[in-house]
Amino acid sequence: MPQILEHPAAVEKDFLPLNGTDYVEFYVGNARQAAHYYRSAFGFSLAAYRGPETGTRDRASYVVTQGKIRFVLTTPLDPEHPIADHILLHGDGVHDIALWVDDAESAWRETTRRGARSMREPETLRDEHGEARIASIAAYGETIHSFVERRNYSGPFLPGFTAAVGGDAVARPVGLKHIDHIVGNVGWGQMDHWVEFYRDVMGFKMFKHFDDKDISTEYSALMSKVMSNGNERVKFPINEPASGKRKSQIEEYLEFYHGPGVQHIAMATDDIIATVSALRLQGVDFLRVPSTYYDDLTARTGAIDEPLAELRELGILVDRDDEGYMLQIFTRPVADRPTLFYEVIQRKGSRSFGKGNFKALFEAIEREQARRGNL
Ligand code: FE2
Repeated sequence: MPQILEHPAAVEKDFLPLNGTDYVEFYVGNARQAAHYYRSAFGFSLAAYRGPETGTRDRASYVVTQGKIRFVLTTPLDPEHPIADHILLHGDGVHDIALWVDDAESAWRETTRRGARSMREPETLRDEHGEARIASIAAYGETIHSFVERRNYSGPFLPGFTAAVGGDAVARPVGLKHIDHIVGNVGWGQMDHWVEFYRDVMGFKMFKHFDDKDISTEYSALMSKVMSNGNERVKFPINEPASGKRKSQIEEYLEFYHGPGVQHIAMATDDIIATVSALRLQGVDFLRVPSTYYDDLTARTGAIDEPLAELRELGILVDRDDEGYMLQIFTRPVADRPTLFYEVIQRKGSRSFGKGNFKALFEAIEREQARRGNL
């Protein structure tokens, strides 16, 4: 008997199969010091480096890792370098959300023929550890997606990088495992354009979960839709500002970043209490919600495994949906401009994004905006 496939979507071929996020590259004013911050505060380990000492004359890059998360911190060594323009305009920020593929040439071809703007044609990079293929396309603002194929490469990162020697005495790992999602802020009325970009050009789908309706409340003044690739390893919520009683937090971001860009990166842990306790001791600054948030918390979420007193002490938020619950907390912006920040998330069944916390959270963000004079 021939097997009958129940759902026609099951036979649709994914034209852009992704293994996950490969790395996130930041352009920063001082990569050496940024690398120290990610190591000593967020617990990353230095894995690889390239710069003048390794034969790269125009920039220095530090690769830091924790669990499956890999960040590349890059700075230019000359004011005429195009990276210097990026930093002048945006401040420190994400330039590249690189995606791990088995075939970079195909990823580039399939996306560019569906309308993606090429930023780098497929190129083979080689060194003594083998060869890697890389190609890039443009996404929102000046953000790009590189496609990285590393099947035939065994080096510490990519050709041109050398391994960090002698371990990392500075790193203090905190149990961050992998990237859960990366959120992009785009301009007024641009959300659907970028939702269509991820759907039509990259084959993503609207992520179906229990809070996937548009977010538009008097508190949030933003709208958001979540796009996901086929195997759900890559999830990109896209936000646009909405008009509300006060200036949208997205508008503040766009003003200071001077355009669309990455708003936050959510990193997953299996033990949020241990992770956030360690991050706090290491100097990471988190947003606080009022203590009253916890007064009726379990009335909203039902029974949870974690001690309420510890959640209250650390400021960790909880939300439940039909599939389970999740715990989350947000840092303050990590640079002086109110742009990029981080989320730490622990999922216990729930696949959603904490809609039940938006009110408390957005009020906390508004208090911060007011302190900056931007509300
Ligand atoms: Fe998030």
